[in-house]
Amino acid sequence: MNRGKELYKDLSRILITHEEIQHEIQSLADQLNQEYKGKELMCVCILRGAVVFFTDLIRLLDLPLTIDFMAISSYGGTTKSSGEVRMQKDLEQSVMDKHVLVVEDIVDSGLTLAYIMDILSKRGAKSVKLATLLDKPEGRKNDLKVDYACFTIPNEFVVGYGLDYDEKYRNLPDIGILDPKIYM
Ligand code: IMP
Repeated sequence: MNRGKELYKDLSRILITHEEIQHEIQSLADQLNQEYKGKELMCVCILRGAVVFFTDLIRLLDLPLTIDFMAISSYGGTTKSSGEVRMQKDLEQSVMDKHVLVVEDIVDSGLTLAYIMDILSKRGAKSVKLATLLDKPEGRKNDLKVDYACFTIPNEFVVGYGLDYDEKYRNLPDIGILDPKIYM
């Protein structure tokens, strides 16, 4: 990994390396391959932050599956959740009678995911579970159930591996804590 890259200069430190991420995704995939054995899965990627995690995860799943995408409004150039949740792009396929796995980059307040899980259950999915790469439980504002989390992290603003600040840093291969001087 070329950690001398320009974007790394904006980090206060690397929190999780690319290698650690790959290792945890493999463990999650092993678990999902067992739990959904004999079932067909619909994997829902929450745009845009989960894209990198999603594409790595689904390639490790040895199950018949379909993919679809949803976009929900997020921080938009700030590091604090607005608390306001808005659908920007809905699914193309029906979730009726399907086993749905929602794949998210990070759960902070939990407001975005509570909204999504509620909608999908009401639409008649057979089951709806949540897999997130990162969980920031200190920021939680509800009792959202996180079914699978690769890493639990402290209440810091992180970027990389799909996660952005003001739409940048998504292409960093590692996850790092953004230097506060970038957003202060
Ligand atoms: P929640 O609704 O507060 O749980 O926020 C979820 C969304 O906020 C995520 O999908 C991310 O887009 C964004 N988010 C929360 N924490 C971070 C962070 O540390 N870095 C980048 N984005 C974050």
